[in-house]
Amino acid sequence: MMSDVPYEERPDDGRGGKIVPMRLQKFLARAGVASRRSSENLMTAGRVTVNGEVVTELGTKVDPLVDVVAVDGKVVSLSDGSVTIMLNKPAGVITTMKAQSDKPIVAELIPLDRYPGLYPIGRLDADTTGLLLFSTDGELGNRLLHPSSHVPKTYRARLKDIPKASELDKLRAGIQLHDGMTQPAEVEVVDRKHPTVRITIHEGRYHQVKRMFDAIGYPVMKLHRERFGTLELGSLKQGEWRELTPQEIESLSS
Ligand code: URA
Repeated sequence: MMSDVPYEERPDDGRGGKIVPMRLQKFLARAGVASRRSSENLMTAGRVTVNGEVVTELGTKVDPLVDVVAVDGKVVSLSDGSVTIMLNKPAGVITTMKAQSDKPIVAELIPLDRYPGLYPIGRLDADTTGLLLFSTDGELGNRLLHPSSHVPKTYRARLKDIPKASELDKLRAGIQLHDGMTQPAEVEVVDRKHPTVRITIHEGRYHQVKRMFDAIGYPVMKLHRERFGTLELGSLKQGEWRELTPQEIESLSS
């Protein structure tokens, strides 16, 4: 169905253009349902409806202003054009978008061909694994990285030995680093046999977790970020990424 809204009056698509009629598989990809190829598979499998009718014809066009598209009965709509993903960063990969050596970089692990504007929100050291966010939405990144945001970040730190309770209390209270005191942190021992401590910090200074453990004399041997704000890695394997849902993005800002 085509609407009679003239081009000039159509809403911006957030990518420098307007929301115009497009092929159904492109619509599904833009809505963040799946890649174009996988969206075609959804269509040929009969899982996509337009205005209540199953559509399997790959050439079908839809007008996002008037057509109601659903996948498995669930209505999908275009996002504002911005995309945010989480990556489970493997060890040995540098948080940078531009290679400076032949070492692997995070840019090689994320879908830059589909979303060219993705950039990392913060960084993890090369030897740190775990949850790293990327977004095409610069505002979101600025908000989350701003010192006043206090987004909690949770890490598992593998150590040689479990620190004494009094040392862990120092991390909880705040400890002096060369760039000032740290804010209070939550700290719990999660494994005594393979000495591991979970720590949640509410700021994001350079090498912060490693420097905190160094300051009590227990250097970190391995570091893994398991949570960022409201988000957890879940079943995402190392080297894998997935898009955040609009609800997840909203939960990050609240
Ligand atoms: N703190 C560190 O020391 N390293 C990281 O990668 C993240 C937090």
